[in-house]
Amino acid sequence: MNGKVFIMDHPLIKHKISILRNKHTPTSEFRHLVEEIAMLEAYEAFRDLPLRNEEVETPLETCMTPVIDGKKMAIIPILRAGIGMVNGVHALVPSAKVGHIGLCRDPETHEPHEYYCKLPDLIEERLAVLLDPMLATGGSAVDAVNYIKKAGGKHIKFMCIIAAPEGLEKLTNEHPDVEVYVGNLDRGLNKDAYICPGLGDAGDRIFGTQ
Ligand code: PRP
Ligand code: URA
Repeated sequence: MNGKVFIMDHPLIKHKISILRNKHTPTSEFRHLVEEIAMLEAYEAFRDLPLRNEEVETPLETCMTPVIDGKKMAIIPILRAGIGMVNGVHALVPSAKVGHIGLCRDPETHEPHEYYCKLPDLIEERLAVLLDPMLATGGSAVDAVNYIKKAGGKHIKFMCIIAAPEGLEKLTNEHPDVEVYVGNLDRGLNKDAYICPGLGDAGDRIFGTQ
């Protein structure tokens, strides 16, 4: 496999994913857990954010102290299900701007269709953090990265909660420069291109639709 892939091993992430998988977990709890897992993954994914020293006056004296340096951030959920992850990441980096990429898989071909896209300005200067709980065939993630790159985006991190090996391979082959953060790598896809064991349809479970 090409690329930079980080599979999460934190027990809190694993535990919370297990609750997500349970078909009896109600919508409100599901939504809350998706947000929490996104925050925990972001904590790992942002380990390499560069720091610079800044002068700060404490109540006692002046000191040089590290602050996050450099690029601004764009948080970009793939609609709909990616929206469920936004608040968890935004809570850690409140200054980030939020873009949206609307993609929907065709139920027959499993190919993604684009229906809405809007990115923040200066995308070429921002770290783009692309969010989608599910990386199944990889078609949606690849299309979303293509869109961000066409708009000028250069540094992209993709965060998902569950990935299938098929999707991970496609994304890392087509975009080896993208850093991919995965909550859990599952067994594979079924004939309908759903991840198994997975958690079902993430969008429907987050928004309470069928
Ligand atoms: C789901 C999921 C991903 C996509 C993954 O979205 O949220 O975006 O499928 O599948 P892929 O890797 O095979 O492209 P869906 O198209 O069902 O839309 P929704 O979020 O609006 O439910
Ligand atoms: N989209 C989902 O929401 N779940 C899957 O298992 C595959 C694609």
